[in-house]
Formats: sequence, structure tokens, C-alpha cells
Amino acid sequence: MIKGIVVLMDDICERISSIGVLPVVKIENAGDSENLAASLLAGDLPAVEITFRTDAAEESMRRIRKKFPAMLLGAGTVLTIDQIKRAVGAGADFMVAPGFNPKIAAYCTAHDIPFFPGINAPSQIEAALEYGLDVLKFFPAEVMGGIKMVKSLAAPYGQVKFIPTGGINVSNLNDYLSLSVVLACGGSWVAPAHMIREGRFDDIAKLAHEAVSTVLGFTLSGVQLATPTGNDRESVLDFFASAFLLNKTENETTVTAGGIIEVDKMMTGNGSGNRLIFSTHSLVRAMAFFKRKKIAFEAKSNPDELILLKQKGGFEVKVVEGAK
Ligand code: 3PG
Repeated sequence: MIKGIVVLMDDICERISSIGVLPVVKIENAGDSENLAASLLAGDLPAVEITFRTDAAEESMRRIRKKFPAMLLGAGTVLTIDQIKRAVGAGADFMVAPGFNPKIAAYCTAHDIPFFPGINAPSQIEAALEYGLDVLKFFPAEVMGGIKMVKSLAAPYGQVKFIPTGGINVSNLNDYLSLSVVLACGGSWVAPAHMIREGRFDDIAKLAHEAVSTVLGFTLSGVQLATPTGNDRESVLDFFASAFLLNKTENETTVTAGGIIEVDKMMTGNGSGNRLIFSTHSLVRAMAFFKRKKIAFEAKSNPDELILLKQKGGFEVKVVEGAK
């Protein structure tokens, strides 16, 4: 592939990956498209794939692009070159197809159009790789073997990333996202066609919020005390351990009581306040999320964590990556 499309693909892939979920939508009435997009945005989910399964697809994309220019907009169920031209004209950022069609692959690569073809077998992956396409929709994911199949398909092809779609919802989403070869997951559960038809946009916003919350998995996992050093630190932790029958543990950087209350051994003096510690399934996605919400933070790489720049309720807020 030529350089332009690689840069564009990288950018689109990074944006899809940073969100983790791609709502796949079948919309029957283009008049619902702005409300649909607004409900996804209200749930902090700034991405949507509008499928060419209805006549309203092209107009829906056009309306969403006009009203929400920054929203990540894909065209799905792309089966013909004519649909690609219409989707591009309507402002779509990328194309998704249920299968691998070499004519569509050739057209998209020749015209610098990011394209994620559907595959579910090794020979289809190799056909896609011939066109330089290495981010592939794994479809239909659950029926074709789920995460076991993703692992098996990924093993021989080191460079390939997958967007599993089909049968995914909040109950199995993180099983897929925990695999490093999975860029994001697609699915219709976030904005089901019947909810759009029935005008249940508040419910769609709740489902979007639930999806984003599931991806990020924010959990209040600890309280860090800004105690001084040495004996004082020991006595504070000893108090909590003894008063609440908590186990005291220690590693190179922290002393912890009950896995919750901790003192940072590196933190000296009184410069820092007490801290709340939140864990997340993905620091990279959490950073992207905070950027979208304009919450300022400082990222630290050793150890991997981020600190919000503004204290809240008298606490500094630290975010770390936790177990999935
Ligand atoms: C698709 O078009 O990608 C699928 O219809 C999405 O599958 P799901 O409806 O099982 O989420």
C-alpha cells in the first residue's frame, strides 16, 4: 500500500481502538440518524457504523457527518463499489464488509479508503494480506468459534489485528478486548434496530454508556495516604491493619493494608495530598476517554499510571491499569 493510505488507516485504527466498541447500526429512517448519533455521543461513544442494509444508509451517514463532524463514521455491509462511492460522498471515514471481496479491496486500496473486510478463515486472511489489509473484521465472531478462534487465526499472522463482530455484547466484550490482537469489537447490541425504530434514544444512550463503562472498567481500587516517611508510615498502616483486621503487604514501592489502603514509599514530604486510586482495564483507552472529556491528566510511564491534574474533593486522583 502507498504511504497515504497507511497513515490514514493507522489514524482510523487508532481511533477505533481507543474507543474499543463500534456500534453496528441498521437504520430504517434517515430522520432518526441525528438522534441516534446524539444518543451514542451522550453515552460517550463517538463512533458508529451505518450498514447498507436499508435504503436510509447513505442519507443517514450524510446527516450524521453534517451534524457531528468529529464523530467516527463507518459504512458497513459494503457489497458494491457503488456503495463505497456513495459512502465516501456522504462523509464516511472507513468501510466495513461482512466478507472479503477482492474487487472492493482493490478499489479501496487504489483510492486510499480505509477498509476492514470480513474474514473467518486463514485463506481469507491471506487474500486480504495480498492487498495490504491487515485489520480485519472477524465475522460472525461467536458462531465461528469466539475468542478461541481469534487466538487460532491470529497465531500464524503476527501483523493481523481483528475487529470481532457478531454475537458480542457487554457479557463477552472484555473477553475479546483482553486479547492483544483485538483492536475493538463491533456489534448491534448498543443500538438495536428496533430501539431506533421505536425512538428509544435514551435507552440507546444508556447502552452506549454501559458499553464504554464495560470497556474501561473503572473501579475504585484504593486510597493512597500522603503520610510522611519511616515510622509514621508504619504506624498508620499498622493502625488500619489492626483495627480492621486487614493483611499488610509490602513491595518495592508501596505498603498496603487490605489491598486497599496504601502508602507510596516513594512519596516523600507533604507535597502530595491523599489520593484515590482507580483501576481501568486499559490505560490507553482511559487516556483517550479523558482527552475526549477534556479531563486534564499527566501520564507517567514508570510505573504506568496517570494522575489527573486537578484535585477533586481534596483528593488527587491516580489511575492505573488493573486486571481485566
Ligand atoms: C454485523 O453486521 O456486523 C452484524 O450484524 C453484527 O452482529 P450482531 O448483530 O450479532 O452484533
